[in-house]
Amino acid sequence: MILVTTAGKVGAETARLLAGQREPVRILVRDPVKAEPLAQAGAEVVVGDLGVPATVDAAMKGVSAVVLVSPAIPAEELNVIAGAVRAGVGHVVKITSKSSIDSPIARRRDQAEIENGLIAGGLGYTLLKNNAYMQNFLMSAPAIAGTSSFGSAAGDGRIGMIDTRDVAAVAAAIASSPADHVGKTYWPTGPESLSYPDAAAVFSTVLGRPITFHPLTYSEQKQAMVEAGVPEHIAEMNTQAITLFAEGDSDWVTGDVPSILGRPARTFAQFVHDNAAAFSASRR
Ligand SMILES: NC(=O)c1ccc[n+]([C@@H]2O[C@H](COP(=O)([O-])OP(=O)(O)OC[C@H]3O[C@@H](n4cnc5c(N)ncnc54)[C@H](OP(=O)(O)O)[C@@H]3O)[C@@H](O)[C@H]2O)c1
Repeated sequence: MILVTTAGKVGAETARLLAGQREPVRILVRDPVKAEPLAQAGAEVVVGDLGVPATVDAAMKGVSAVVLVSPAIPAEELNVIAGAVRAGVGHVVKITSKSSIDSPIARRRDQAEIENGLIAGGLGYTLLKNNAYMQNFLMSAPAIAGTSSFGSAAGDGRIGMIDTRDVAAVAAAIASSPADHVGKTYWPTGPESLSYPDAAAVFSTVLGRPITFHPLTYSEQKQAMVEAGVPEHIAEMNTQAITLFAEGDSDWVTGDVPSILGRPARTFAQFVHDNAAAFSASRR
């Protein structure tokens, strides 16, 4: 049995893929109503909260591998790691990002703390240090649909961004067959490194209408996220990361996705095509 710790973008797709391969998979959720499609796809849905160790322990029964993905609050993910140690779990696939204990970005410090806790726990583990997600553009979908324009403080910085469906595919592949991946760190990316102006050109081609990019200042970027409903402290961390994009911090591409999956990583054009309705909603 594989336990997936949350049903967000990566977790839901991981559970769906595993269920589709007839791998026994359990997914922990706070709200089972949201997870009904996953139950219908064949995943076992359990109600819990990563902040409540008893619910984590209950979800660990009979589990051989865990896909650890969540908003990466150290106390919560360290609860999962402790629960996995208590339950004798063999392997943990940890979804993470660039991280270091002295990073200026709180989330990266938090990820480093969790990774260190996982390694110290003595379990088999694999770290997936993913580049930025293409799905971050879905936050700009209302602007792109409504005004055919989007803004960012990323400037001309290029990003080797990855589709979360590929993150999930890599996590599912490793969790169901961990032997070759024990103690390894991968740096999953998409197939190309694109700037936001490059992304605007892809949007224009795929959506068939001109989409423009406009630069934002740090405070405009943060304000836009807060107005989109992102909590203030998360908007701060995300804006810091976007500012680092402008400096080339995420301008890296690896072959980890194709080497693990045996097929190419999805392109940004594929992502836009598959989400075209969201970027065109006002025009339907
Ligand atoms: N965004 C990027 O560009 C990027 C890049 C690299 C790595 N990452 C990493 O990816 C991870 C986030 O993955 P994601 O994008 O799949 O997440 P996501 O879509 O934001 O979903 C988060 C999920 O966690 C659930 N959740 C939150 N707190 C919980 C708790 N205490 N107990 C149970 N469930 C809880 C939420 O459930 P509810 O519906 O109940 O709220 C939601 O389903 C983070 O570790 C992040 O650092 C992100």
